[in-house]
Amino acid sequence: MYKLGVLISGRGSNFHSILKNIQSGYIKNAEIAVVISNNKNAKGLDIALKNGIDSVFIDSDNLSREEYDKLLIDKLREFDVDIVILAGFMRILSRRFIKEFKNRIINIHPALLPSFRGLHAQRQALEKGVKFTGATVHFVTDELDDGPIIAQSVVPVLSDDTEDSLSERILKTEHKIYPLSVKLITEDKIILKGDKIISIGDDLNDDFYAVNPKEL
Ligand code: GAR
Repeated sequence: MYKLGVLISGRGSNFHSILKNIQSGYIKNAEIAVVISNNKNAKGLDIALKNGIDSVFIDSDNLSREEYDKLLIDKLREFDVDIVILAGFMRILSRRFIKEFKNRIINIHPALLPSFRGLHAQRQALEKGVKFTGATVHFVTDELDDGPIIAQSVVPVLSDDTEDSLSERILKTEHKIYPLSVKLITEDKIILKGDKIISIGDDLNDDFYAVNPKEL
């Protein structure tokens, strides 16, 4: 059984979707050991509380990135965490943190990486005028919003989209590809070679990578 440590900063809907998929049995080999937030008002902390999951607020006031990440590492070690799930965690992690959990940190980003890295990915997509965008789950490396890609979803950008409507359409697909990615990792179906190459178990096919917009 893998122990997951989930890092959040806000709403926590991706954390909730992973939790629901554990509760339903879709993700069989994992449990959420702890949820950590850098924001004490994060709604995701209430979701953890309601579901009897340990949750911790770690304040970043007056701390350097290194000092903060040391607290994070200590807390994750205290809960014996195997895999770190970034679910809307709006802080950049230090090299030390990434080294500590090398190849064991995954993130979700609301764009088809490598396009639209950084903040406001949905706004960037609208401003660029792309016709399709989506979401990406990837392993975390030292480069921001980079690293081997595990799963992606594609959604259309509609002519009357606002940042909110597009974000909502992308979010629905995030709630499919993030649990899927956690399932694959915790069933040892994803093999990383070096820093870049991933191979996925033979029993999985390309259907697992994309979410058909018509299904939404
Ligand atoms: C999600 O859309 C996620 O992709 C995004 O923050 C949102 C968190 O929502 N993450 C990033 O932009 C990271 N670069 P949630 O708190 O409801 O899961």
